[in-house]
Amino acid sequence: MGRGIVQVVAESGFEVVVREVSPDLLDKGIGFIEKILTAKLDKGKISESGKKEIMERIKGTIDLSVLRESDIVIEAVFEKMDLKKEIFSWIDNIVKPEAILTTNTSCLSVTEISSATKRPDRVCGLHFFNPVPLMKLVEVIKTERTSEETYRKTVDFGIALGKETVKSKDSPGFIANRILCPYLYLAVQEYADGLFTKEEIDGSIKLEAGFPMGPFELIDLIGIDVCLDIGEAMYKETGIQELNPPALLKEMVKKGCFGRKSGRGFYDYG
Ligand SMILES: NC(=O)c1ccc[n+]([C@@H]2O[C@H](COP(=O)([O-])OP(=O)(O)OC[C@H]3O[C@@H](n4cnc5c(N)ncnc54)[C@H](O)[C@@H]3O)[C@@H](O)[C@H]2O)c1
Repeated sequence: MGRGIVQVVAESGFEVVVREVSPDLLDKGIGFIEKILTAKLDKGKISESGKKEIMERIKGTIDLSVLRESDIVIEAVFEKMDLKKEIFSWIDNIVKPEAILTTNTSCLSVTEISSATKRPDRVCGLHFFNPVPLMKLVEVIKTERTSEETYRKTVDFGIALGKETVKSKDSPGFIANRILCPYLYLAVQEYADGLFTKEEIDGSIKLEAGFPMGPFELIDLIGIDVCLDIGEAMYKETGIQELNPPALLKEMVKKGCFGRKSGRGFYDYG
């Protein structure tokens, strides 16, 4: 997700500093963006100078203190509450007081994440969808403590990125994932029970519902680990059985099958 967000922010004319945990991961992420832009150049969608300008707007770092001058921070680390709170606490101590802190969390409580800062009025959710450059929607999550000014500025930022924004309450899974996840989990359970093959389910859904991807293709794109984390968090918060992820997802994660990003998921990407 992070690299898609960085690409869209830079393509929209903003200077962006991306922070990763290691130089290797940083190079991999920025290298991926360069590859996508080269493909756009080859298709005549951008010029050589346009590509150069976009790449020049992206600065990579492993040093958090470089975020000091940022006006808005978008956190997109693993879907783990403790990690997100730790990062928000660090960032709160680094960035200027007027900066807005946002989280790309798929389902976690933005209110709880904001409690790790001394500026909960300047925290809100900014939830992109995968793949970020193609998906139009961004959910903007306003907590009871988010100020109206922070909310408005975040919406304006989303619009400046060329997205359609929708306001969401701070409720587990927000608007879309609360509905999407039970559908994905049901497909996995049908497959795990041996009722249908994944190809039968993906093929039927695409033809019947007109979706661009079937559930297994989508889970592989999102990341099986992310799908599992989201379900576990939503189920823990709500107790809604439909949000409880099927055991097969846990088994696949244990085997290192994370989907496209690991080269293996429900399908092979080797
Ligand atoms: N995958 C999706 O389709 C999707 C869609 C919408 C939102 N999200 C949300 O985006 C977030 C990230 O999901 P993802 O799919 O990109 O996960 P991912 O596992 O693919 O990537 C997470 C990245 O965070 C980095 N990271 C971990 N700790 C860090 C730190 N302290 N500082 C900087 N970087 C750090 C990791 O190195 C890794 O590159 C999650 O909150 C997830 O719910 C994901």
